[in-house]
Amino acid sequence: MASTGEAQTQGGSGEAQDGGTPPSNLPTFFVICHSQIQASRALSLLSESEQASVLKYYHLNDAKMSLASHLLKHMAITKYCNVPWPQSTISRDTNGKPCFIPKGATKPVTMDFNVSHQAGIVSFIASVGFDARVDVGTDVVCANERERHDYAHIETKGFFDWVDMHGDVFAESELNHMKLSPVPINLGRPDVSMRGFAKDALSRCQWRNAKLDLKVTAVDGEESVAQVDSNSVVDKKLRRFYAMWCLREAYVKMTGEALLAPWLKDLEISDVQAPDAASDIQEANSLVGGEVVKEFNIFFKGRKVTDVKMELSALGPAYMVAGSLSMPKDNPDLALGPWHILRLEEDILSVAERTL
Ligand SMILES: CC(C)(COP(=O)(O)OP(=O)(O)OC[C@H]1O[C@@H](n2cnc3c(N)ncnc32)[C@H](O)[C@@H]1OP(=O)(O)O)[C@@H](O)C(=O)NCCC(=O)NCCS
Repeated sequence: MASTGEAQTQGGSGEAQDGGTPPSNLPTFFVICHSQIQASRALSLLSESEQASVLKYYHLNDAKMSLASHLLKHMAITKYCNVPWPQSTISRDTNGKPCFIPKGATKPVTMDFNVSHQAGIVSFIASVGFDARVDVGTDVVCANERERHDYAHIETKGFFDWVDMHGDVFAESELNHMKLSPVPINLGRPDVSMRGFAKDALSRCQWRNAKLDLKVTAVDGEESVAQVDSNSVVDKKLRRFYAMWCLREAYVKMTGEALLAPWLKDLEISDVQAPDAASDIQEANSLVGGEVVKEFNIFFKGRKVTDVKMELSALGPAYMVAGSLSMPKDNPDLALGPWHILRLEEDILSVAERTL
C-alpha cells in the first residue's frame, strides 16, 4: 500500500502522553544539516569526548551530521525521559547500539531510539511511553550521492556485478530481485503495455548508454516496438537497490545487531519497489515528501515476520528514509509518525538550553 505525504515541520507526533496511555505513533524526525548553525553554541552542549568525536571529521558536512546526531540523542533523552540535559548521557548496549541508562540504574530505560546520517540529513526515531521496550531502527539513503562512482563501476562491469559487491549483506532472493525483476517504466504511450516475455529485456538490462527495443501491445492487440533509454532502467534499478539497503539497515539497526548479525542472509524483505519521489520537484535540494510504502513481506528463515512494522518514504528527488519497529503485542495499531523536519537551533538548542 502506498500513499503520498508532505514532510512537515515539527509537530506533536508521538509525544509521551500523561496518564499511562501508550502513544499511537512514534516520533520520527529528520534534521537538515546544510544550513549555517552556531557551531560553538551547539558544541558547548556536548561533553569533551563527544566534541572530539564531532571535530575528528575532515569534511564539514560529516562533522555537522555527527553534531546533529549527538544533539538529537540528548534531546530525546531530555525531552522524553524528563532528564536535564547534563544528565542525558548516552551509553551503548551490548551490541553497541546507543541507549540511555539513567544514573544508578543498571539497564536502559524502556525507551529506544536510533539515528542515521547520509548526505546532509540525519534521521531519528524513538519509542517511549510503553511498558516494555519497543525496539526501533532508522536508515536514510541518498540514491545519487555516489552517482559518479556507481556509474563508473556499472559502465565497466555492469549492474549485476555492482549488486554482487554487496552480496554478503542481502538474501539470495533479494539479490535476484534487484538484478532481474522488471522496474516500472514510462513507455511514453498510455495506449500500450508490455506483456509476458516482453519484460525480459528490462530484466536483462544492466548496461548504461544503450537503447532498449521493447515489444509493446496496444489494447486492440497490435504489437509494436517502443524504444527506451537503458540509463532510465539502470537508474530505477539503482534506486530500488538503495530502497532495499535502507529497509534492511533500518531492520538490523532495530535489533541492535546491525550489519554484524549472523542471520543477515536469512532475512528477506521481498518484492520491494522504491517509493516514487514527488512528481513536481523543481529544486535538487527539495525535501518534499513523496510516496510512502507501508507494507512489506518480511521473511526470517523462510517464515513470515508479523511483529515488525516498516515504512519507507521518499524525500525530495533522491533521499529515502526508513523506519522499523518491533510491534508490542497489545498495541497492534502502533505506527510510525510522519517525518517531521526539526530545526537545529529552534527545536533542539533551545530545548537543551532550557534544561541546563
Ligand atoms: C553501525 C552501523 C549500523 C552504522 O551504519 P551506517 O549505515 O554506516 O550509518 P548510519 O548513519 O545509518 O547509522 C549510524 C548510527 O547508527 C547508530 N548505531 C551504531 N551502532 C549501532 C547498532 N549496533 N545498532 C543500531 N544502531 C547503531 C549510531 O547512533 C550511529 O550514529 P552516531 O555514531 O552518530 O551515534 C553499521 O556500520 C554496522 O552495522 N556496523 C557493524 C557493527 C559495528 O561496527 N558496530 C560498532 C558499534 S561501536
